[in-house]
Amino acid sequence: MDEAVRGLSASTTRYQLWTEFLQTKRVESMAEIGVYRGRFAAEVLSACDSIRTYYMVDPWRHLDDWNKPSNTDDSRFATYLAETEANTEFAADKRVILRGTTLEVIDQIPDASLDFAYVDGDHTLRGISIDLINVWPKVRTGGWIGGDDFAHTMWQHGDRFEPTLVFPFAVYFAEAVGARIFALPHQQFLICKEPGFEFVDLTDSYPDTTLQGQFRLKRVLRGWLTDTIGILRSERRRTPPAKSATHSDQA
Ligand SMILES: C[S@@+](CC[C@H](N)C(=O)[O-])C[C@H]1O[C@@H](n2cnc3c(N)ncnc32)[C@H](O)[C@@H]1O
Repeated sequence: MDEAVRGLSASTTRYQLWTEFLQTKRVESMAEIGVYRGRFAAEVLSACDSIRTYYMVDPWRHLDDWNKPSNTDDSRFATYLAETEANTEFAADKRVILRGTTLEVIDQIPDASLDFAYVDGDHTLRGISIDLINVWPKVRTGGWIGGDDFAHTMWQHGDRFEPTLVFPFAVYFAEAVGARIFALPHQQFLICKEPGFEFVDLTDSYPDTTLQGQFRLKRVLRGWLTDTIGILRSERRRTPPAKSATHSDQA
């Protein structure tokens, strides 16, 4: 197995995971689907000096057909776009802002031009299907698709919202196109655009890829706990230590 991928298991946050991967692979052209306030983009652009082109795909507007907690109103989305522009101003010559849904703007990215795409937009079954199917031809052979919210339970946001189905759909997609897919820490996944399907769970925390498993109460509770504890841990690691913290707290 690619040592760079195996090494991702030791990452302490998703930002560290992807910046190390992108630096190691010397990624030059990439896209982010679902940019929101530009935090991920800013981290990646400041840490990865190999990047020459960074496409930012996001409608930055309210979507009537997207029932997820991040779907806010148009005016707030306008401030998020301004925040993204300010956060990534230092890399203005590298970024290409494509304001629209994946289906509205994806054709502006040439086929087989991307080394890497990060899928973090609409995580519903409809959204992840549209994103993976449309992004796949944009990635060159030997390139990668990464993504967020490979959640252990589709009830990530409770039953008031549409389920999150990045997992297991991304695994089914990888099987359909005949590519290897890795489950990584921090609810991340990585698909390698090379022939040969295999699901490699580097976290040892996805016991099966069935949809039926998603309806078992024990699985739902275990999945919810795994994801919640993981999020709390990585947020703690990102929070700067308080002034009164002891030396061992900071280690
Ligand atoms: C979870 S946020 C992205 C967070 C960001 N990647 C980060 O790590 O900082 C999800 C974003 O997906 C966008 N989105 C929702 N539906 C979309 C679609 N159909 N196409 C592209 N982006 C979409 C939303 O506008 C929102 O900004």
